[in-house]
Amino acid sequence: MKILLLGSGGREHALAWKITQSPKVDKLFIAPGNAGTTNSGENVNLKADDFQGIKEFVITNGIDMVVVGPEDPLVKGIYDYFKNDAQLSAIPVIGPSKAGAQLEGSKDFAKGFMTRHGIPTAAYQSFNGTTINEGLQFLETLQPPYVLKADGLCAGKGVLIIDNLDEAKREFKQMLDGMFGNASATVVIEQFLSGIECSVFVLTDGKHYKILPEAKDYKRIGEHDTGLNTGGMGSVSPVPFADKVWMEKVENRIIRPTVEGLAVEGLDYKGFIFFGLINVDGDPYVIEYNCRMGDPETETVMLRIKSDLVELFEGVAEGNLDEKVLEQDPRAAVCVMLVSGGYPQAYGKGYPISGIEEVEGSIVFHAGTAMKDGQVVTNGGRVIAVSSYGKDKAEALAKSMKEQQKIQFEKKYFRSDIGQDL
Ligand code: AMP
Ligand code: GLY
Repeated sequence: MKILLLGSGGREHALAWKITQSPKVDKLFIAPGNAGTTNSGENVNLKADDFQGIKEFVITNGIDMVVVGPEDPLVKGIYDYFKNDAQLSAIPVIGPSKAGAQLEGSKDFAKGFMTRHGIPTAAYQSFNGTTINEGLQFLETLQPPYVLKADGLCAGKGVLIIDNLDEAKREFKQMLDGMFGNASATVVIEQFLSGIECSVFVLTDGKHYKILPEAKDYKRIGEHDTGLNTGGMGSVSPVPFADKVWMEKVENRIIRPTVEGLAVEGLDYKGFIFFGLINVDGDPYVIEYNCRMGDPETETVMLRIKSDLVELFEGVAEGNLDEKVLEQDPRAAVCVMLVSGGYPQAYGKGYPISGIEEVEGSIVFHAGTAMKDGQVVTNGGRVIAVSSYGKDKAEALAKSMKEQQKIQFEKKYFRSDIGQDL
């Protein structure tokens, strides 16, 4: 079969790497892809949210399945676009409908959904321009730190955690005043939860689900989780505290009620659900939902799926996911992200990258790279993910640390402590 994968980051390179291991795949296209995805397929110069362009490409090239990497096209309704188009409706899209993608697209919707289905999450209230005073009063009832969340998509920047009440009030008003444009026209204020985070993923056909290997993402730029938040500086899988007992709680209290809740509310959902969880004294709470895989979690999770991912996607499309098998690789996986100096603030682009082909024993996933005059160059803040297997996370980290030395570009920066806190 021919598959079109949408997106251009490290997550998509890792998905492409895994998809092309399937004997079912004759050809993979990636739109728009990056300099690394060409190792797994053919890049197509189309933006992931250019629905009309994607339609033409899918029809002209006889594409059999579309896999959506990032949230943007999902929240904009690519699933529905296919479903409602006579020429496209028979082609499965792996990803939820626009209504289902609201789990990520609207924090207010997600909180309401969890409340309706009794899914554990931080206590909250939502406010808009007509309820500013109520919001200010609600803040006074809470203990610091104060958690303020823009309702809509903000490319991971819409959450503020503030220690001081007066500052929280000021930022709250500024958010409603358009700090994040329309995305913060509604603001969720919620209780602060203290614990270690863990990312859990499922694939669902809307009725059945398979739990993928869990992972932990390292969001801060500095060693030992210090400094500014980033898109993610590395990941590790498995996560030691996500043992059998904890995962049973996650499944019973969170995963099953979510999948059942989607069905009960008539939200068409055939794709990945990403549960951003926090472990509070042994009990899992949902910090956020995403309607896609995580990045850089995918760069370790794909290493730990033994089964044919495309066969699982077929189960999603056909609604018989319960008949498929998801086998996990027992080894540990660690991903170390190489980033461009200055990131997550201003950084340069276009620096030549050398040494990628010398890496042995680790898997190199490109995140922000491009080809320029036959040379791979940096093209983003997060540049390359170096992922490795090990008998445990220490061995996997040591391998990634050794191999990453071979990859050089100007102002390269990385964290050397991925997985060490667990
Ligand atoms: P989100 O975009 O919702 O994942 O939030 C970004 C980050 O903010 C999360 O990964 C957490 O580290 C933190 N965060 C969000 N909500 C809370 C909360 N209620 N309590 C503590 N930390 C939170
Ligand atoms: N790693 C967090 C995310 O993908 O949102």
